Amino acid sequence: MKKITAALLAGTATLAFAASVQAEPDGEAIYNQACMACHMTGAAGAPIKGDADAWAPRLEQDMDTLYAHSIEGFGAMPPKGGHVNLSDEEVKAALDFMLEPVL
Ligand code: HEC
Repeated sequence: MKKITAALLAGTATLAFAASVQAEPDGEAIYNQACMACHMTGAAGAPIKGDADAWAPRLEQDMDTLYAHSIEGFGAMPPKGGHVNLSDEEVKAALDFMLEPVL
């Protein structure tokens, strides 16, 4: 049992190390580049960053759904905000930044 625990701990440490080596995507920069045009102005009915009322019904969905809608598109919202060159991780970081004031 001890051996298994040690192996698990070692595995977790390796994963954490790998994650910290890879640079975290800069959610704010990606938001400014890829999401702000609609989510600051409310263009086409986009929920505005920081508008708790607009986000409340959307936040009733779980985060996985919101991440998926950001990546795959949703209604008038284009996949990845139209920036299909972004990685899924970058889109998620932008969404985290966008939702920070209303969570
Ligand atoms: C071209 C305009 C546009 C851009 C750019 C855009 N969005 Fe949107 N977004 C929308 C619109 C419009 C809606 C509302 C869609 C609806 O409810 O039909 C929306 C809705 C959303 C929602 C709510 C989805 C839900 O399930 O209720 C999320 C999350 C979201 N956008 C994330 C993002 C992220 C992250 C980015 C940047 C990577 C981004 N959007 C860029 C227009 C845009």
